[in-house]
Amino acid sequence: MAETILVTGGAGYIGSHTVLELLETSHRVVVLDNFSNSHPKSLEVVKELTGQAFPVYVGDVRDKGLLEQIFQKEEVTGVIHFAGFKAVGESSQIPLAYYDNNLVGLLHLLEVMQSVGCRNLIFSSSATVYGDPQELPLTETAPLSVTNPYGRTKLMGEEILRDLFAADGSWNLVILRYFNPIGAHPSGRLGEHPQGIPSNLVPYITQVACGLRDHVRVFGDNYATPDGTGVRDYIHIQDLSRGHVAAMKRWATGSGLSVYNLGTGQGYSVLEMIRGLSQTAGQEIPYQIYSRRPGDIAACYADPTKAREELGWEAQLGLEEMCRHAWKWQRLNPNGFQD
Ligand code: NAD
Ligand code: UD1
Repeated sequence: MAETILVTGGAGYIGSHTVLELLETSHRVVVLDNFSNSHPKSLEVVKELTGQAFPVYVGDVRDKGLLEQIFQKEEVTGVIHFAGFKAVGESSQIPLAYYDNNLVGLLHLLEVMQSVGCRNLIFSSSATVYGDPQELPLTETAPLSVTNPYGRTKLMGEEILRDLFAADGSWNLVILRYFNPIGAHPSGRLGEHPQGIPSNLVPYITQVACGLRDHVRVFGDNYATPDGTGVRDYIHIQDLSRGHVAAMKRWATGSGLSVYNLGTGQGYSVLEMIRGLSQTAGQEIPYQIYSRRPGDIAACYADPTKAREELGWEAQLGLEEMCRHAWKWQRLNPNGFQD
């Protein structure tokens, strides 16, 4: 029988692209989302693009009764857990909401999985757990440290999984540390639409390019990087989604707890990203230098060797595709899924 994957947060940015990838690789998918940071239309688009229907449960991952119903009715064999809040700045303003959603959500999910005997989980972690790196590129064994409530929910989530596995070695747990996902589906119909002013760089640049904002604010040009601006490992959302399907291979190995970086291994600076998107959009995108954003680090990029060797996964798409697809999504959907 085909595997049935429960995707929590499946309507969100990474979730919707991963649902599409799962369907295209012949998996049965069930989505649970409360649409707190997404629009039901993303799932409609996934259905249209794949020509496949799948059950969608509108509800909260903290609702154990609902989870029990889903596991029983759908015969779920594995879970990819995306549901949670992700805004670093906001997490410092409403920390309790972050701990509640990100940690109670994970705990309730694990409790129900334990009670129904489903032991296969992929957990969305973040390169933010590496803090300010002492050495680059980052391998999975680099020291961990976090500086804000969002980051702490991710690190605590990882620790919960390590404790669970130490207590019961029959679990199959995969922790994926994402670097900076950007871009959109090549169709231009599926992408990310941040609410309000984007805090991430690429959505901000594309909003400037299409005239929604005046200029890009470059947060600092005096870092110890080649051009003085911050360097990050941007990864195409399709590559990231494929990384989840590749990580499911670990579920077939019996049991274990493994951690993988999902990044390209290549860092780009803020100015390189502005140049890349200027080329794609066929216009000079204006920017101004601002002071550093508190909490930012100079540079962060992955050593993706472990995922390549153990999962047979590596990023296929480069800066050109990331920019082209990000720009196409922005141009076709200036109001996200509201159009
Ligand atoms: P997103 O906000 O687009 O998606 C999260 C989805 O979860 C949304 O559809 C939201 O409605 C849903 N959700 C939130 N709380 C819920 C709850 N209690 N019950 C049910 N649904 C709920 O975010 P994303 O960018 O797709 O990120 C997915 C995961 O990856 C998150 O856990 C995030 O922390 C992690 N992550 C994201 C990034 C990134 O740059 N996007 C980087 C590292 C890690
Ligand atoms: C941020 C989060 C991180 C999260 C990641 C992906 C912080 C401190 N970290 O990472 O936890 O996992 O997003 O969602 O918020 N920049 C500008 N102008 C802008 C926006 C950003 O110059 O308007 C610069 C930043 O200083 C940085 C780079 O662009 O050098 C990338 O920033 P961003 O997209 O916010 O990602 P991160 O800071 O890496």
